[in-house]
Formats: sequence, C-alpha cells, structure tokens
Amino acid sequence: MLSTASTRVSRASSGLPVQRPSPARRCRQPARCAAAATADLQQAAAGAGTEALFQPLTIGDVQLKHRVVMAPLTRCRAIGGVPPAITAEYYRQRATEGGLIVSEATCVSPTAHGYPCTPTLYLPESLEGWKPVVQGIHDKGGIFFMQLWHCGRASHADYQADGRPPMAPSALPIVSDMKVMSPKDYQWYEYPTPRAMEKHEITEVIASFGQAARSAVSVGADGVEIHGASGYIINQFLNSLANQRGNEYGGSIENRCRFALQVVESVCEAVGSAGRVGIRFSPFGHYLMTPDPQTYPLYTYLLSELNKFGLSYVHLVEPRTDDLPLAAFHNVSGSSARPDSLAPFRQVYGGTLIAAGGHKGASAANAVQGDHADAVAFGRYFISCPDLVRRIALGAPLNSYERDAFYTQDEKGYIDYPVLEETPEG
Ligand SMILES: Cc1cc2nc3c(=O)[nH]c(=O)nc-3n(C[C@H](O)[C@H](O)[C@H](O)COP(=O)(O)O)c2cc1C
Repeated sequence: MLSTASTRVSRASSGLPVQRPSPARRCRQPARCAAAATADLQQAAAGAGTEALFQPLTIGDVQLKHRVVMAPLTRCRAIGGVPPAITAEYYRQRATEGGLIVSEATCVSPTAHGYPCTPTLYLPESLEGWKPVVQGIHDKGGIFFMQLWHCGRASHADYQADGRPPMAPSALPIVSDMKVMSPKDYQWYEYPTPRAMEKHEITEVIASFGQAARSAVSVGADGVEIHGASGYIINQFLNSLANQRGNEYGGSIENRCRFALQVVESVCEAVGSAGRVGIRFSPFGHYLMTPDPQTYPLYTYLLSELNKFGLSYVHLVEPRTDDLPLAAFHNVSGSSARPDSLAPFRQVYGGTLIAAGGHKGASAANAVQGDHADAVAFGRYFISCPDLVRRIALGAPLNSYERDAFYTQDEKGYIDYPVLEETPEG
C-alpha cells in the first residue's frame, strides 16, 4: 500500500515531528498482558458484544483460538531485504494465543521487488532474519502465515538486476496517479511500461512462489498466504485491463485465472498441504489496478476452482465505497445490482473466508455473527494497537495510527505504540 504522493520513505526515519504516546501509558506488567488468557478474552468479549470473534476456528490444518487476524502490512523496515530485530519485537508485541498473524508482503524472487526495504524469502540472510520473528510469535502461542509477493509491473527497472523494465503479463503500464520509488535515489517516478513475460518466465515465477513457500516453512512459518490482491502480478494476470495475452494465460476468464491457479498448485505442493495455504484477493480494489470489467464472473469462476483445493482460507478485501468511482460498477455481470459486498463470493466459496478492510470490533463481530466471513483481518489498527485483540475483547478505545510512520525505517510508529494499562477491568 505504498506509493501515494503523500507517502514518505527515506533511508533513515522520516524524522518528522509526530506526537508520540507517553511511555507512562505503557503497560506496567507486559508479561501479564501478553498472557491474557483466551478464556479471559472470551469472557470480556461477551460484555463488549464482540464474543463472535472469540470463538475458535479451524482454518485447514490450523486451529485458531479467536478470529481477530492481523492483516499483511508492509512496513519497509527490512533494509537489504532482511527483517531486523525490531521486526521480531513488532510481531511479538502483536501475537496472541491462537491468533493468526499474516506477515507483511515478502518478495519471492529477485524480480519480485517494487518497494524499498521489503523483506525476501530467497536470500539466506533474510531467512535468518525471519527465524526470531517466528520464534517470538510462537513463544506467545501465535500462528504465523507468510505472505508471498511478486510485484510484476508495479516495479521499476532500478529494482531489476538486469536493468530491464519489470515483467508483467502484457506490456501495459499501471494507469494511476501513484508513483514508484526507485531504490537507487529514493525519488518517485511514473510507473514504467513493463515488458510482457516470456513463457519460460511465467513458469519460473510460478516456481519461485513454490520455492518461497518452502523457505517460509523452513523458517518455521505455520503456513503461507499468496498475495493475489492489490494490483500485483497475480491480480495483473486476472485482470483483462492488465492482461491482454493471446495465449493460454490471457483472453478468457479461464485463461486469465490459469496463472493464479498454477501458483496455488505450486505453493500447495511445496508446503505439502493445502490446509496451510491461504490466498488474498481484492476483487473491487483500485490500488494500482482498475477492477476488471467482469469482476463478478471472474472471481466467481476463480473461487469455484479454489473450492477444489481445500485451502486454509481465502482472504478478501472489502470494497471501499469511498474508493470506488461509479464506473467500477458498470458492466458487472450485466446486473444493475451493485456488487459492493463480498456476499456473492461467500455464496460461491465453500471454505473459510477472512474479510479485511475498514473494520472495528463491532463491525467485525457483526460480520462473523451474520456469516459474512469466518474471521476478520485488521490492518491499520493492528499497526497502532499492539494489544488490539485484547482491546476488541474489552471494547476499549483504539489508538489512532500515524500514517507518516507506516513506511519509515525505524522503531518510531512501529514498536512504540502503547498498550492498555493493567486494570482490574482489563
Ligand atoms: C501500511 C500498510 C501496509 C499494507 N501492506 C500490505 C501488504 O503487504 N499486503 C497486503 O495484502 N495488504 C497490505 N495492506 C492492506 C491491509 O492488509 C488491509 O487490507 C488494509 O489496511 C485495510 O484494512 P484496515 O481498514 O483494517 O486497515 C497494507 C495496508 C497498510 C495501511
């Protein structure tokens, strides 16, 4: 989610004067907070009206003790692609007993990059950096899935070792006012026209997802989430406005879904069980992509195919009505009904569904209670609330988040958000 004009990324911290929470508000007994037992949370949630989120859930091979998921969140702290010690601390702070954390998007291969300081799953030193992250989460009983990422055309020649334009299904640039930051001079540039992938490159990228999944398991991750959302390579293959190939990977909906489904196959084989593999899509998303003119039939077909795998889960980003020009609703399955809900996909997909986007405790509980989704992922509030799960259980206020520190490179706005004081009530 980087690259709005207002986003700042620098080699060091932005150094902007931002309001920091007072250290005095930090928990005096962090160990007690960390150990806040699931039973206590369940009891508290009943009072807060969020108890639907505190029921256990089986996602494939994995048992969750509650349904408040940490969404994947790129934070640009991995200088040289290696998660630093503060990253282990960041995830450790947010881990809970039986709670699912999805890692920030993690590059599957050298051609996958499109943002500065994002972590990898192909460098040996990155793998070493991930081990304490996994350990910290597991020490608190948490579950960790790593998000597998290839940016495709959402990149720049400066990220590519051979200096060529980034690869994509077709030589069609991103049409957006977003810009890409070069890792060489940290300046913003227009997204370039990518080069259309050759057949052998498609095969190699599919294999690199599998290899990255193997590496994720090797560092102790409990599973992986394939990043099929937000305008990156899988989304590019799915979308007819980005994919105008004439061969088996382009044209019909079936052909455009082939890449995604082959990535799923490759990853499931690498992990050894589909029950440890999830995948994320943003059917209505406008980030680096205009929604496909056939969004509804496209994702209906894709999700019906995914039913055959027995995946751990499918993770869908909610439509953001304030983000969608009306044009996005035209020509969708020939219907006048606005598909501004994930509900049609819930009907199609028979497995576990995680929904993300714009939720707070009450709306998330309603979503689960009303069978809109099985679990709800939180992004920005997990950034600002290390103890978000507990706050939701208690119905406690949430810290506001600091956008200026989303993508900076140090601990500010990363590991220094306050947790609730220990009180008799919580
Ligand atoms: C700072 C930031 C980084 C993000 N990075 C990722 C990412 O790496 N992978 C991804 O799939 N989504 C990413 N997202 C999207 C979030 O996972 C989530 O879908 C989005 O923030 C909406 O949820 P929210 O309203 O709870 O914040 C990012 C969002 C933010 C704000």
